[in-house]
Amino acid sequence: MLKLENITYKKRRQALVSEINGQINKGDCISLFGPNGAGKSTLIKIMAGLLKSSKGKRVVNFTDKNPIGYVPQQIALFKGLTVRDQLKYYEKLTKPKSSEFIDEMILSLGLSSILNKKINQLSGGMQRKVNLAVGMIHQPELLLLDEAFVGVDLAAKHDMLSWLKRLNENGITIIFITHDWYVIQHLKPQMWIMDKGNMIDQVEWESVPYINLTRQSQALQKMFDVNLTHVN
Ligand SMILES: Nc1ncnc2c1ncn2[C@@H]1O[C@H](COP(=O)(O)OP(=O)(O)OP(=O)(O)O)[C@@H](O)[C@H]1O
Ligand SMILES: [Mg+2]
Repeated sequence: MLKLENITYKKRRQALVSEINGQINKGDCISLFGPNGAGKSTLIKIMAGLLKSSKGKRVVNFTDKNPIGYVPQQIALFKGLTVRDQLKYYEKLTKPKSSEFIDEMILSLGLSSILNKKINQLSGGMQRKVNLAVGMIHQPELLLLDEAFVGVDLAAKHDMLSWLKRLNENGITIIFITHDWYVIQHLKPQMWIMDKGNMIDQVEWESVPYINLTRQSQALQKMFDVNLTHVN
């Protein structure tokens, strides 16, 4: 579906991501994981086709005309529009495959009660939910989520994740970035572990408890140690 071959992205001679390789297949669920500044958002933008790599190749093989849904880390909504008009706008723009999907999405994201509210009247967590909704309204083959759950309360997050898991089991490919271990535990993804622009390791969820990154990155090892001891 999407293959990254030796991807490097430079800005003012500095490599923000370096020689990244990876293969994404239909139905995969992958978490880009690493400390602040590791290059995760940069890499996901390259995957989305929003940034062009300085070196290397991005090979895509999709079936849909509009195959990618990208949800950015920064909220990107029209502040003066109601949630309903916002969704309508993106519906027109992306020509969704099914209205049932949109109805299900509105329910699963808990948007029904805020459809008539304007974006600038919504709380931060509510805006996140709408941000996610507009990014996936067209039922993409590949969903790219950059910190899509920040500030969403636990009950809402649980419902959103259960729905996303179901979509993934039905074939939608999901790549996501989060610092929230609850999200990772729920989705049990393959972990693409990054630090300082490099891909340190790519491991299946089952191998996470046995991970040893001390030699490559103490910051990363600490992130795993803290999450595995305090959350499990
Ligand atoms: N437009 C830009 N110009 C110059 N440097 C940038 C630009 N965007 C990002 N960077 C730098 O590239 C590096 C990677 O940034 P990126 O946003 O990809 O990290 P991240 O892993 O998503 O971090 P976070 O967890 O904080 O969101 C950082 O050192 C950042 O300062
Ligand atoms: Mg980021």
